[in-house]
Amino acid sequence: MSQSFFVVSGENVELAKDEVIAISKSYDKKTSYKTDSRLVITNSQVPWEKVAERTTFVRRAGKIADSFSDLFSEIDLSLLHKSDTFACRTINLSSKKLDTSSIEKTVGAAIKQISGTKVSLSNPLLTIYLIFTDKENYFGYAKPITEAQRPKKVFKFQSELPWKLCRAMTNLAGLNEQETLCDPFCGTGSILLEAESMGIKSIGIDYDKKMCNGARKNMAANGYNSKIVNAGYEYMQKIENKIDGIVTDLPYGISSKSSDSPKKLIHDFISILPKKKKIALMYKRELADQIELKPAKRYEIYRHKSLTRTILVK
Ligand SMILES: C[S@@+](CC[C@H](N)C(=O)[O-])C[C@H]1O[C@@H](n2cnc3c(N)ncnc32)[C@H](O)[C@@H]1O
Repeated sequence: MSQSFFVVSGENVELAKDEVIAISKSYDKKTSYKTDSRLVITNSQVPWEKVAERTTFVRRAGKIADSFSDLFSEIDLSLLHKSDTFACRTINLSSKKLDTSSIEKTVGAAIKQISGTKVSLSNPLLTIYLIFTDKENYFGYAKPITEAQRPKKVFKFQSELPWKLCRAMTNLAGLNEQETLCDPFCGTGSILLEAESMGIKSIGIDYDKKMCNGARKNMAANGYNSKIVNAGYEYMQKIENKIDGIVTDLPYGISSKSSDSPKKLIHDFISILPKKKKIALMYKRELADQIELKPAKRYEIYRHKSLTRTILVK
């Protein structure tokens, strides 16, 4: 077990913190955690890099070395022996005003003098983080990780879901690489692309042939193998034993070609949703009363005055 830290950005803080926890738990059910402001600290067997490379809203991440009360007396410099260059970075999540650049300079100079290690602000082999919160201060560190390439999208559509929400939903559902996701309203395949980019197998269903062909093109452009089935969402019942989770963006009604009203369609869809699967659904807030699923956690994402989306995770 080791402690890792994740600092999320200011957008959708609750969702962002839950995403970190869900990814970590998808690999290690015994993951425990605490959160404070925009910081999540996990205690888990999962390496921080594995979680960080999947997250959507994490800005900084690494290993926790210790908590500290007196910065200068407590930094453990043994970490630096294997590293050629380092940089010191302050993350102030406390309500106090801190002179972060002077802290970084002073601590950096002290570390340099004691350890003989060189400073590199642009390309450090080790970043030492000094994390301040109102409750506790932490000393963390991280080696650089390479950012994965974004999947290509050659077929787009106006009602497609932004990739960040697709990725976050897939992660909130708690799926991992041993599992298969189904999106029964896959459209251009945005959710499938995110799932496949994280190594999660996926199957898409859409009753619009044009969407299916477009989604297939998107998969092929990235060398992904997701199966795309041209059928109504009811098809998911036929493949129930092959899938572990359902992650989908429900039709809003405006661009849907369905003859059913969005309310009826959603009501019927919910009534056949497999009971024991991992679920993450996106819908327009106005459709909320059609969706009675318990227990479930909901996140509201404001887009503009006539569009607030809800993500439901069960
Ligand atoms: C909100 S869009 C999904 C957009 C998708 N997330 C994307 O990023 O491209 C909903 C999709 O549901 C499909 N759809 C509507 N009614 C359907 C039904 N009864 N069965 C299957 N698909 C349906 C539409 O063709 C549309 O592509």
